[in-house]
Amino acid sequence: MSELTDIKGRPEIEQLVNRFYESVGEDDLLGFIFNDVAKTNWETHLPKMYSFWEKVLFRTGDYKGNPLGVHAKLTPLTTMGREQFDRWIKLFNATVDTHYAGENADHIKNCATDMANVIHGKINHIPDPRFDAANLTVEQRARYAEYRNTP
Ligand code: HEM
Repeated sequence: MSELTDIKGRPEIEQLVNRFYESVGEDDLLGFIFNDVAKTNWETHLPKMYSFWEKVLFRTGDYKGNPLGVHAKLTPLTTMGREQFDRWIKLFNATVDTHYAGENADHIKNCATDMANVIHGKINHIPDPRFDAANLTVEQRARYAEYRNTP
């Protein structure tokens, strides 16, 4: 039995996001994209990401934004390819697994992985057969239907 507990609300999301971006900041493939290319203001980016993940996981929080547009704007400035997205997914899922376990932990990893693959495909204009409506798994279909019903 794992001794880790699940992500229960905003406090765990804030910790997860802080820990994730700590490792992103130190990462050889991703760190410079934030620190040197986008010159990220961490004081505004981190709270934005708390709200983003709170909305994904609990349907609460006040995130409003355009993640696709933000990442598409980075493509002329730096490489946002498979290698970068695979590293992002690896770091995100490893951060979750180090600190949390449970339904929400599994859910946030699935969501993050799907979103990473969708963003990668869209900004690089590479169709991804995994997200063709005809090829969705039952679990993905149910999850996406749930998103569509969110007011
Ligand atoms: C190679 C992978 C990625 C890189 C290098 C990257 C980089 C960035 C950068 C530089 C920003 C702008 C930060 C700033 O304000 O300066 C940003 C914003 C953001 N990223 Fe990513 N990102 C990646 C993947 C992802 C993925 C997979 C997700 C979602 C699961 C995501 C979600 C977001 C969101 C929600 C924002 C805020 C957008 C807004 O302003 O509303 N990112 N990212």
